[in-house]
Amino acid sequence: MAFKVDSPNVSYTENFIISDYKYETTEILKDNGTMRAVPVSTQFKFRTERKKPRVGCMLVGWGGNNGTTVTAAVIANKLGLSWETKSGMQHANYFGSLTQASTICLGSGQHGDVYIPFKDILPMVEPEDIVFDGWDISSLDLAEAMERACVLDVQLQKQLYKHMEKYKPRPSIYFPDFIAANQADRADNVLNGSKQEQMEQIRKDIRNFKNDNELDKVIVLWTANTERFSDVRSGLNDTAANLLASIKHGESEVSPSTIFAVASILEGCAYINGSPQNTLVPGVIELAAKHKVFIGGDDFKSGQTKIKSVLVDFLVSAGIKPVSIVSYNHLGNNDGKNLSAPQQFRSKEISKSNVVDDMVQSNSILYKENEKPDHCVVIKYVPFVGDSKRAMDEYTSEIMMGGHNTIVMHNTCEDSLLASPIILDLVILCEMCQRINFKTANSDDWETFHPVLSILSYLCKAPLVPPGTPVVNALFKQRACLENIFRACIGLSPINHMTLEHKVT
Ligand code: NAI
Repeated sequence: MAFKVDSPNVSYTENFIISDYKYETTEILKDNGTMRAVPVSTQFKFRTERKKPRVGCMLVGWGGNNGTTVTAAVIANKLGLSWETKSGMQHANYFGSLTQASTICLGSGQHGDVYIPFKDILPMVEPEDIVFDGWDISSLDLAEAMERACVLDVQLQKQLYKHMEKYKPRPSIYFPDFIAANQADRADNVLNGSKQEQMEQIRKDIRNFKNDNELDKVIVLWTANTERFSDVRSGLNDTAANLLASIKHGESEVSPSTIFAVASILEGCAYINGSPQNTLVPGVIELAAKHKVFIGGDDFKSGQTKIKSVLVDFLVSAGIKPVSIVSYNHLGNNDGKNLSAPQQFRSKEISKSNVVDDMVQSNSILYKENEKPDHCVVIKYVPFVGDSKRAMDEYTSEIMMGGHNTIVMHNTCEDSLLASPIILDLVILCEMCQRINFKTANSDDWETFHPVLSILSYLCKAPLVPPGTPVVNALFKQRACLENIFRACIGLSPINHMTLEHKVT
């Protein structure tokens, strides 16, 4: 059911929703061993564009498990496909997508809380209206690539085949040094030429795709193999100018993913990094700021880390002290094969390792300064299990009076069916943020969010945040951030769960 906000602080014009919003925070001032908590209130005016644009999404690694699965899922939903499985009929859906399959509590009515689909809080684009395209170093068309991925049920694949075979990934940038050597045999669709020429080709691909499909905007998202980390060095990639010069000179340390990010930014397209590597080096961040383009990442937060960012938050906020977290994974898809090489595993290990830091730092009763739980991550490649990834975690915590509590978890899940809805959410939320502007008392002009779009943190294992700002990993804080910013855009205060109306006589 559609809703409108009925408030003197909110107005709807043909093109915009405009809200006057009081943002209330608490500033802590510390002096001479005392703390003062000072309530602070800042006036914001939010302006949200109502018209949904025509959006294109270009996936780097389109022919991979995630790329084919997300494309297939959108087509299956668009066509309303159903297929028979051994446990009955299955219908296409978007389970696992925050925007498409979760709800938000809008407020309370006569009969209790009223929930609406998350996607209805603001005018977000629909997955079925997104036009997909992309690049892959493997030349298989998307139907063959979907078969190779072994993710979707065969009956569904058969129905999708004729729709998927129309799509063929564009040739991509392949520098073998950045991904595992075991990927070489699929690299038969690669660009030639200097780094600069390859970047120009990617820019041309984006422009052609945009023009051919009459799109208002394009968002580029990396879901290709995990690369090794690149060096960050002064003169190489520390500033926008140095990075552009390094590409021009063909510096070997500039990765394919960084070239994709630069190409997207120069075309004015948001760039999202779904893998763990450090694509978004300082030079990229500066370039994004200069061109006022959003960038976001890193690494989809799909399974084990998502649970970790809930469980550790729960334990620490319950006053229980996790002292050891050990996570084993094994998987048998091509991502696992690539991660079996030490340098690519290292990227993933780094991305997975800091996810409990903010929760640990929040509780100085349990943890001394710089104290952290032991945290170990192991990933093994076991081809037989294919895309059905296994994650085993052991959390040991100290409880009262020297007691110990150990929680062990075993999680089995098709990896790409977790990542695909996250890809959709990243694109939909990033696009939504592009249509939000605001003014504060200090600004005459409409502003946009910082180019490092940390609002996407909920979906990222190692959230990239504006330099000097805190990283939040705790999942429900991340969700509340998204929900409450969107509520602010329509002039509604955060849901505070106080329900005082039910607690007074
Ligand atoms: P995949 O190996 O099936 O697909 C990756 C695709 O990228 C392959 O088709 C490969 O040919 C292509 N590729 C490699 N280098 C390329 C380049 N330079 N340009 C264009 N294409 C290139 O892997 P999958 O399972 O789809 O995962 C993709 C990425 O997402 C991986 O980095 C993975 O670590 C990351 N990820 C996946 C999660 C999941 O739950 N599936 C969760 C978090 C991150």
